[in-house]
Amino acid sequence: MGEVTVRLDRAAKKYGDVYALRDVTADYHAGEFVALVGRSGCGKSTMLNLCGAMDFPSEGLVSIAGAITSSLDDAGLTRLRRTQVGFVFQFFQLLPTLTAVENVEMPALLAGFPDARAKALQLLDWVELSGLGARFPHQLSGGQMQRVAIARALINSPKVILADEPIGNLDSTTGALVLSLLKRTAKERGTTILMATHSAESAEYCDRVVRLRDGRIEV
Ligand SMILES: Nc1ncnc2c1ncn2[C@@H]1O[C@H](COP(=O)(O)OP(=O)(O)OP(=O)(O)O)[C@@H](O)[C@H]1O
Ligand SMILES: [Mg+2]
Repeated sequence: MGEVTVRLDRAAKKYGDVYALRDVTADYHAGEFVALVGRSGCGKSTMLNLCGAMDFPSEGLVSIAGAITSSLDDAGLTRLRRTQVGFVFQFFQLLPTLTAVENVEMPALLAGFPDARAKALQLLDWVELSGLGARFPHQLSGGQMQRVAIARALINSPKVILADEPIGNLDSTTGALVLSLLKRTAKERGTTILMATHSAESAEYCDRVVRLRDGRIEV
């Protein structure tokens, strides 16, 4: 197995008196495609938020690429989120006023990395959208928008991609295409992919299924 990219060590998240996540200990490795399943409210998005340093555990520790999220200052957190983590969402969240290639290159520009445009074009090729870089999001299909979002998530070569219901808004054929692209990302680029999903079929396609129930991992 590849190196550990995300580690949760007795991590819990409380909102007021209520635990959204409790006592979660887990390691996720380079190249692993992991499905996070469980019914609505079980804590999937909460766990992804902790694994992306978008939120912090109330108890325990989360580390990403070796850095303990709750010990970083603002600059360290911004850098970690920009360079080690990519996000893919159910509703794509592309910037509507930017073209596809501009959406893809944005995280590289924000991180101050060189050759953003060339990398963005290469990634659009890789997600099989070469030639569509000049289109605006509203000129693309849902599946095409999601592939742009995956290219955007990859541009800074993050160790981890967090995908929250990435196929929830796609038909089954397009969803299958996006899933196979995520799997290729894990296998060819060594990225850890954590994907929350309600689809049993797509979970089966992953290397590992993690089932949450009332904020705990079921064994
Ligand atoms: N910011 C918040 N403030 C208070 N409670 C929250 C907050 N975010 C989530 N929760 C609660 O934490 C629990 C877990 O929510 P979470 O969004 O992680 O579930 P989920 O598994 O992603 O559900 P879904 O499948 O519907 O997306 C829920 O009971 C939810 O109401
Ligand atoms: Mg959710």
